[in-house]
Amino acid sequence: MPDIAKHLLIVEDETALRQAIAAQLTDRGYEVQEAGSGEEALARLADFAFDIIVTDLRLPGMDGSAVVEAAVARYPEIIAIVVTGYGTVKDAVEAIKRGAWDFVSKPFQIDELLLALGSAIEQRQLKSENAYLRAQLEERYRFEGIVGRSRSMARLFQLLETVAPTSSTILITGETGTGKEVVARAIHHNGPRRMHRFVALNCSAIPETLLEAELFGHVRGAFTGAVGSRAGRFEQAHRGTLFLDEVGTMSVALQMKLLRALQEREFERVGDSHTTRVDVRVIAATNSDLGRMVAEGGFREDLYYRLNVIPIELPPLRERKDDIPLLVQHFLAKLTKPPRPDGRAGRPPAPHGGPAREPSAPAPDAARAVRPGASDERTPRPAAADSRPATTLSQEAMRRLMAYPWPGNIRQLENAIERALAFSAGRSQIDVTDLPAEIQQADEPAAPGTIALPASGVDLESYIATIERELIERSLERTNGNKGRAARLLNLKRTTLVEKLKRLNRRP
Ligand SMILES: Nc1ncnc2c1ncn2[C@@H]1O[C@H](COP(=O)(O)OP(=O)(O)OP(=O)(O)O)[C@@H](O)[C@H]1O
Ligand SMILES: [Mg+2]
Repeated sequence: MPDIAKHLLIVEDETALRQAIAAQLTDRGYEVQEAGSGEEALARLADFAFDIIVTDLRLPGMDGSAVVEAAVARYPEIIAIVVTGYGTVKDAVEAIKRGAWDFVSKPFQIDELLLALGSAIEQRQLKSENAYLRAQLEERYRFEGIVGRSRSMARLFQLLETVAPTSSTILITGETGTGKEVVARAIHHNGPRRMHRFVALNCSAIPETLLEAELFGHVRGAFTGAVGSRAGRFEQAHRGTLFLDEVGTMSVALQMKLLRALQEREFERVGDSHTTRVDVRVIAATNSDLGRMVAEGGFREDLYYRLNVIPIELPPLRERKDDIPLLVQHFLAKLTKPPRPDGRAGRPPAPHGGPAREPSAPAPDAARAVRPGASDERTPRPAAADSRPATTLSQEAMRRLMAYPWPGNIRQLENAIERALAFSAGRSQIDVTDLPAEIQQADEPAAPGTIALPASGVDLESYIATIERELIERSLERTNGNKGRAARLLNLKRTTLVEKLKRLNRRP
């Protein structure tokens, strides 16, 4: 029950149902008014600032989604909850896109609605107390789980918005740990296929001989050990998205079969004479340079073009270091999230804190996908035993994080923060000594001879590339952008420096 009476407008064309709900809500302390149509609702909204609007989606004239949109346009703080009929989850998703906070499916128990209202009110309270922080969060979570405000990330978000609603094939490239899989999932969850499956297959994790059957399935007796028939990943992803990770590792023979599946959307299960047709969006990812592999004959050119319809290149973390503080904050929050006070920590939270739904219902996923700010965290990990986990980083620790080249990118950063949290047990701040050794040593790029090889090793190529980029940037800074003098500082020919600059600039 709300502390202060909340003014609630209920919009429902079935009079008996509307009155019954209104009576029950009044009993629970809400100040309720009723409207029998969308038009009537708008008239009431025009002269009264309701806190909450609960509307049926299917209304005789103006529909519930339009009512929500109008209500939110007039009162951005209003909590709009929609009531949907059976099997109209899509409409609910549409309503959420247009500003609804949550939805309740018909038929519902009054308790369900009360729960949804309670959690919405709680969250809105938090929101107004914390409006500024919250605005930042929403900005950050435009695509849930993808944190970043650097220019390259802003461009990425724009691109994702454009491509998510389509079914075009996408090729995501980027170093290890840059978020290729996160991005692939975000595309799926923000597009029309979100109601169907996202099926991931790491092509490098499966022996070549089994990969074909894994992709396309097999029939009984197709090979030794094929005791029954089995659908492959393509079939499993029917109407959804198939994520082919490390696609560069596939043999040339299999590339050919994949090409046909992509072109014709049909294939045969291994050992089958019958052709199977599917409707699948393919997102491929690789951390190798497929363009170069094509030039060297290791990858089919036609397949490359088929996959590379929309290329998405993820920048390495060292090229968007301004995102590091934000990422650190994100991981600290994620890793130290306290258990739920109601003791239901074991259950995954429903979208935006509403009541948990049955796992079989596709709705929560859908809602989460379109709701900025929705959290995807599962069971919170306990931080250091019985002490409050650190929530900040010392300036010096942050300076080291900023100086480190992050060959393992965001994954490595996340691991580093997790480790640092464990080591900082009992203190409220993470300090330099809590960081992994190689990061503690990170500082100005070291002079030759003083570089320490961390116990965990380095990615030599990207490490050297970072040093090269930094030295070039410094030489240009020192010479105010004079390429001739910068080249002399680096003992390079001017043309060589220009070449290198071009290569560097091609990266996002
Ligand atoms: N922009 C981001 N914001 C927050 N977390 C991120 C972001 N990008 C990646 N992560 C996190 O970093 C980790 C690695 O991401 P992911 O698995 O998508 O990388 P990848 O590019 O597929 O790596 P690999 O090539 O090694 O498979 C995950 O835990 C993911 O949640
Ligand atoms: Mg991956």
